[in-house]
Amino acid sequence: MPIQIIVPEGALTPATEAEAFRRLTDLLLRLHGLTGNRFMTPNVIGEVTVLTPDDYQKWTQESTSGMSLAQNGERLFASMGCNACHSGSAAARGPNLAGVYGSKLQLTNGSQVLVNDAYLRDAILNPSQHLTAGYAPIMPTYQGQISEDGLIDLVEYIKSMQSNYRVQQTLTTSESNQAAPTTPGVVKP
Ligand code: HEC
Repeated sequence: MPIQIIVPEGALTPATEAEAFRRLTDLLLRLHGLTGNRFMTPNVIGEVTVLTPDDYQKWTQESTSGMSLAQNGERLFASMGCNACHSGSAAARGPNLAGVYGSKLQLTNGSQVLVNDAYLRDAILNPSQHLTAGYAPIMPTYQGQISEDGLIDLVEYIKSMQSNYRVQQTLTTSESNQAAPTTPGVVKP
């Protein structure tokens, strides 16, 4: 059970570093119902990584560790500019995506579609092929602009947007390794 604490230089003194580490260790053991367990206690190991302010800033911008797919999708949604049109406000040029998953959309060609995972993917990659009634064909295509991981994350985020529900960012969950780091704009072969 390794723990990693990443802090900017100067944020913690050596004494508070040790204290922070001790508290996290206790918490981890408690969460697993292992407080006082003689075998597991020495197994909780870890390190405190102290970064320079510059490196720390880079790390917080790039890091996807500890983020769920939907959380990473939320980050991409902002960094790729989706929220410029899909802000959810009445004045936005694109539809509010909260609650769109699982709903039926009326298209300009007269047909109706059920919004499932496949439809969301296609709506992002080929927006001009199925326009939602009442909206102008202004959404750019993201074909070739986004990696497969990024697409999955965006779809997960849109699915999580029920009634404008916002996901909290947590950096120390056990899921830390489940979200593959994704850089917006990187295209995988
Ligand atoms: C320039 C404005 C604009 C941008 C930027 C934009 N969209 Fe859209 N989007 C629209 C409009 C308008 C529609 C409705 C017309 C259509 O179907 O293309 C739409 C439709 C959609 C739909 C179909 C669901 C629905 O309710 O119609 C999805 C999903 C979607 N956008 C996701 C995204 C994502 C993800 C991004 C960023 C990667 C993005 N959009 C960026 C304007 C935009």
